[in-house]
Amino acid sequence: MENFTFYAPTYFAFGKGSEENVGALVERFGGKKVLIHYGGGSAIRSGLMDKVIASLKSRNISYIELGGVKPNPRSGLVYQGIDLCRKENVDFILAVGGGSVIDSAKAIAAGVVYEGDFWDYYKTGKPVDKALPVGTVLTIAAAGSEGSPDSVITHEDGMYKLGASGEALRPKFSVLNPEYTCSLPAYQTACGITDIMAHVCERYFTNTKNVEITDRLCEGILKAMIEESPKVIKNLHDYEARANIMWAGMVAHNNICGVGRGQDWSSHCLEHELSALYDVAHGAGLAVMMPAWMKYVMKHDINRFAQFAVRVWDCDMNFANPEITAEEGINRFRAFLQSIGMPTNFKELGAKEEDIPKMVRHMGVTNENPIGGFMKLGPEDVTAIYRLAL
Ligand code: NZQ
Ligand code: ZN
Repeated sequence: MENFTFYAPTYFAFGKGSEENVGALVERFGGKKVLIHYGGGSAIRSGLMDKVIASLKSRNISYIELGGVKPNPRSGLVYQGIDLCRKENVDFILAVGGGSVIDSAKAIAAGVVYEGDFWDYYKTGKPVDKALPVGTVLTIAAAGSEGSPDSVITHEDGMYKLGASGEALRPKFSVLNPEYTCSLPAYQTACGITDIMAHVCERYFTNTKNVEITDRLCEGILKAMIEESPKVIKNLHDYEARANIMWAGMVAHNNICGVGRGQDWSSHCLEHELSALYDVAHGAGLAVMMPAWMKYVMKHDINRFAQFAVRVWDCDMNFANPEITAEEGINRFRAFLQSIGMPTNFKELGAKEEDIPKMVRHMGVTNENPIGGFMKLGPEDVTAIYRLAL
């Protein structure tokens, strides 16, 4: 195991009625003038927004609102939010929605207190060490942004979809009431499930040895997802399954199962090009790219993929030919994603073969600047992986 530090001080209020704590939580973390940031209106239609506003009013906390965050959130609204917060002396950002709303809120929070262009953090990867405090009221189990120090934004100038990171971006609190995820349609629910499983897999495939505790945490989360996901796809109002998946989204991405080990974010990197070009849902893009990436890199460490197959997918170990076991695990993963309604190839996603060179160029990957931690990938590898997903 590698050395690490782990500090994840988000306060969580989880369960039915937890949204009633929002006012008290904003007060606890020093907010006096709040920007409520939200998306296309699902939080209004569900009645959640009324509850959030009532909770703020009960504590005499003043607020302004900025809605309109799109999935795969854009830079334009972030600039608008930064101007608004400065003009109105906002000191706390409250995101009510999914990963896109939360990421947009984080970008605004960083931008308000930064003298330069907020995009500097995304373009250069320099850590965000200063931001306004952010709180979240989550409405979809997926991105894990409610407990992560990350934000992913698409800049409209060139459609670059990039991430920024920094402890200042970790939410001060997150309110998670699984009841509000019941209004999600099956497809969007499955996209979230796929993203959660991807966040575990990106940590699981590592070159670091002797990481049994985090291996087992990863495998446990994946097995629980395999158990709970079909229940919720069958019955969108299954509260208990929704609750388990919602908490899985948090533990999959606040890095508790990724510490002390090398990680590999290639599938995300490959996916971000798809959502930047075609505006597909992040989870749907991952459903197509992850199994393709796995098939390509499997040869790098057959035993790790065989372990994944046996421990997560209950495959029998073929001791004479572990490659067969490894491949069977990937096939079962792909079949599982298909069973919950996810696309499995470019065609089903609406992506085009002729765009592959464009995506590889746009990613900026070169032999000198490869992607990947488990296996380094240059432009030829990336091209081959996209082709495996056709
Ligand atoms: O905008 P509204 O009207 O709220 O509708 C949203 C949106 O259309 C809808 N929705 C959300 N909650 C709902 C609901 N519809 C009905 N009932 C509800 N309760 O769902 C749609 C998708 O929402 P979005 O926020 O885009 O989903 P998600 O949470 O999957 O976020 C995806 C974004 O997160 C980024 C992705 O790249 C993508 O841009 N990621 C962020 C990460 C992070 N910050 O740590 C890590 C992830 O790897 C991911 O990259
Ligand atoms: Zn993701």
